[in-house]
Amino acid sequence: MYKIVEKKELAPKIKQFEVAAPDIAAKVNPGQFVILRVCETGERIPIHLVDSDTEKGTITFVFNEVGKTTNQLGLFNLGDNIPNIAGPLGNPTEVQKFGTVLCVGGGVMIAPLLFQVSALRKAGNKLITVIGARIKDLLVFEKELKDLSEEFYVATDDGSKGYKGLGFLKDIFDKQKIDRVIAMGPVVMLKTVSEMTKPLGIKTIVTLMPIMVDGMGMCGACRVSVAGETKFACVDGPEFDGHQVDFDQLIKRQRMYLPEERLSALFHERLGGIKLGRCEG
Ligand SMILES: Cc1cc2nc3c(=O)[nH]c(=O)nc-3n(C[C@H](O)[C@H](O)[C@H](O)COP(=O)(O)OP(=O)(O)OC[C@H]3O[C@@H](n4cnc5c(N)ncnc54)[C@H](O)[C@@H]3O)c2cc1C
Ligand code: FES
Repeated sequence: MYKIVEKKELAPKIKQFEVAAPDIAAKVNPGQFVILRVCETGERIPIHLVDSDTEKGTITFVFNEVGKTTNQLGLFNLGDNIPNIAGPLGNPTEVQKFGTVLCVGGGVMIAPLLFQVSALRKAGNKLITVIGARIKDLLVFEKELKDLSEEFYVATDDGSKGYKGLGFLKDIFDKQKIDRVIAMGPVVMLKTVSEMTKPLGIKTIVTLMPIMVDGMGMCGACRVSVAGETKFACVDGPEFDGHQVDFDQLIKRQRMYLPEERLSALFHERLGGIKLGRCEG
């Protein structure tokens, strides 16, 4: 049982939990994730970690309520116990002094980007950070990321704050030498950034989020194609060279269960299962 010691609402449908999990907190590094279940018969959902506190024995993660399980999770309150959390899983982000690093975060994945940005900053890199969301209300951790970065930019799809879209990244690449790019967010964003940096020869590391089940390399659900080879994102990643990823295949695989996901969310909403925040219904 993993007790929630802090719950915050960062933006509409985006929640942050700090959870007592000393065994995980002792081992976690930026770039890693956990797989949790909201009840014994619930599905396993992967969530990246945003922070850990070894003294308090806690881990922090941020999630977007997009479907059945994340909505159920959002109904847990301070003091409630999450029955099952496995981790840390995946390989940690490579952290060393690269020089100038452009860090791009989109949507809810701006949150775990903060963990990586903090580590890259401590390693002595100059950081240029770009965060983006559909609309300005969904931007999170603006101040924290701005404080850690030499340059900081905001973009929104509708132009409600900062630049409209990511086209302005071209100006950043024209203006100065970038040694490395890291990107976390929707797969379309990862693809766009990788396509921009490939002709410039800038090493680009993207975090992939295919559907996962066991998170331990056994089920094959998370397979992705990288440099023409099959990789399992949970054990070989989740970070890969963006210039080698077959993004179109990943997009197709991510959408594989859309009809079932929609039905499941609707079914549980109508039957009150989501309202209960547990597995009943
Ligand atoms: C390594 C990794 C790290 C992630 N980190 C975060 C995070 O920090 N914060 C966050 O909000 N979300 C994160 N996600 C996405 C999160 O796991 C999904 O949003 C969640 O599983 C959706 O479940 P649902 O039942 O609420 O929605 P559903 O309606 O079941 O699914 C909505 C969408 O989420 C994706 N998804 C569904 N099930 C899974 C699954 N088992 N594994 C991966 N993706 C799935 C699919 O693209 C699907 O279309 C991460 C995913 C991966 C693979
Ligand atoms: S989630 Fe099963 S192999 Fe990666």
